Amino acid sequence: MTPVSKELIARALAAQSKAYAPYSKFNVGAAIQMSGQVFEGANVENASYPLAVCAERTAISAAVIAGARELEAVAVSTNSSPPSSPCGACRQVLLEFSSDPTKVTVTAVNPAGEHRSWTLAELIPDGFNGKELPAK
Ligand code: THU
Repeated sequence: MTPVSKELIARALAAQSKAYAPYSKFNVGAAIQMSGQVFEGANVENASYPLAVCAERTAISAAVIAGARELEAVAVSTNSSPPSSPCGACRQVLLEFSSDPTKVTVTAVNPAGEHRSWTLAELIPDGFNGKELPAK
């Protein structure tokens, strides 16, 4: 699969340096394209370990606050080899903002230049999207 744009990958790599991860020492950067705009995120940890927030979800928060709603592409940067894919919780949160997860490319990269790509539908097949909830 074709990776996401070079710009999105560069923005994820740059965002990785902003991570606050003194406990895990696992710095993660994310860049997402939503409604035509790019938003960055990085993981933010806490001395109370379960309160850590992943890079993908801080990026989604920035996008939502800016008014963007439609997820188009995702890049995630870690120092892992091979590059790490998004955790299950982040896959679910990304799905919330995707009207067609077969059209959203997710690319995991590392500073060494390795990359792996999937569609969001591949990462969270048959995911819960709220359609089963009672009608409003
Ligand atoms: N982390 C992310 O930022 N994104 C993921 O998809 C996986 C995990 C962060 C959370 C925590 O700060 C650190 O990586 C170790 O789990």
